[in-house]
Amino acid sequence: MNTYNDKLMVVGGNELNGEATIQTSKNAVLPILAGCVLCDKPIVIKNVPNLLDVHNMFNILKGIGVSIDCVDKDCYIDASNITSTTLNQELCKALRSSIFLLGPMLARTRQAVISYPGGCDIGNRPIDLHLSGLEKLGVKIIKRHSLIYCDARNMHSATIQLDFPSVGATENLMMASVFLKGTTRLINVAKEPEIVDLQNFLNSMGCNISGAGSAEITITGVDKLHSTQYMPIGDRIVAGTLMIATAITGGKVALKNTDFKNNQSLIAKLSSVGCQIDIKSDIIYISSKGRLPSVDLIDTQVYPGFPTDMQAQMMSLQAVSDGVSIMCENVFENRYKHAKELIKMGANIILRDRVAVVKGVKELTGAPVDATDLRAGAGLVLAGLKANGYTTVNNAYYIDRGYEQFENLLSSLGANIKRI
Ligand code: UD1
Repeated sequence: MNTYNDKLMVVGGNELNGEATIQTSKNAVLPILAGCVLCDKPIVIKNVPNLLDVHNMFNILKGIGVSIDCVDKDCYIDASNITSTTLNQELCKALRSSIFLLGPMLARTRQAVISYPGGCDIGNRPIDLHLSGLEKLGVKIIKRHSLIYCDARNMHSATIQLDFPSVGATENLMMASVFLKGTTRLINVAKEPEIVDLQNFLNSMGCNISGAGSAEITITGVDKLHSTQYMPIGDRIVAGTLMIATAITGGKVALKNTDFKNNQSLIAKLSSVGCQIDIKSDIIYISSKGRLPSVDLIDTQVYPGFPTDMQAQMMSLQAVSDGVSIMCENVFENRYKHAKELIKMGANIILRDRVAVVKGVKELTGAPVDATDLRAGAGLVLAGLKANGYTTVNNAYYIDRGYEQFENLLSSLGANIKRI
């Protein structure tokens, strides 16, 4: 049983070799679980990953009357009897993705009370785009004492232009609109693969949504939904993390349950510095020999640009590469806390606002370091795989939010890592 005091201890120096099956995507599963609230018939979500964030979402759903029964990783979800429209405040604070419930709740029950969501501390993370979009759909919103009261009795279809292609706002507005008479158009939306997956899930239970993956999504209202069984996509960030891990340690790894198209920006960067990457149906093969040259520029962008969720792991690779790398974090304004921890291990990193200059060193030294958020924690484990001696990554619970048994996954590939 994992606890909040767990740490991951890594002894650096081993190559990674072998094959691993990639878990289902956390960022696909969370909005899909929220979307189950739309339907009053039973739903089966298959291969749900065993993650802290998923358990938090289950608990929020159970708090509003949804019954959830998981057999192995197949989860039977019955939202036929919603008993409350107020989401548990403490759980919302622990899970940023609790905000995804607002759209489906309003579509289903026409009212909801939610508190401001929490989650990883990687920036301000406002929800203004979610709320202003809902207001354009006719939802009345009152903010009082850190709670948000929403009344959607007069909700109607509309055309909404997002100021920024926010992943969460796109998903929320898609789900809020599924029953609205007529056609809702969402313009300048996020194009992430998880949004395509959400569209596919919603359509599998009878919604009429098109355009996901492009800059405009159209939702035509339907009267009711039906049961479905759905298997979400593989996790492109976990696959990418293992690709970077292999690039760092050297070795040859096959990653199953992947779609290379979802990782093209990372594949381009790793190929450009000499990693050999081959694709065969849903398997990515990656091999890396020794120390790689630095990547000149890593600029995080919305999809299909280089993902912010892979920036920390990539910084660990640059920290031990040969040369200088310029990194620019364009999506979140406070996402370099891992740099200070890498410096404790001997990395040479200069930070200025959103820019990091990483001068690769020949060797990192193991040290006790703190995971400061989910991907930062993964990045520090990757640095530990290459460092001399022991690295202890504190606050392993951050990693447990998004990586299923990370230490087992890495040790199955030959890493020397254990939970303490
Ligand atoms: C999702 C992902 C997260 C990833 C992020 C960006 C899930 C569960 N999480 O988070 O892993 O790092 O996309 O790829 O899918 N913003 C606003 N106002 C809003 C909403 C967002 O200003 O109302 C800003 C954010 O502060 C941030 C940027 O937009 O600077 C991107 O956020 P967004 O795309 O919404 O990310 P999330 O959906 O929170």
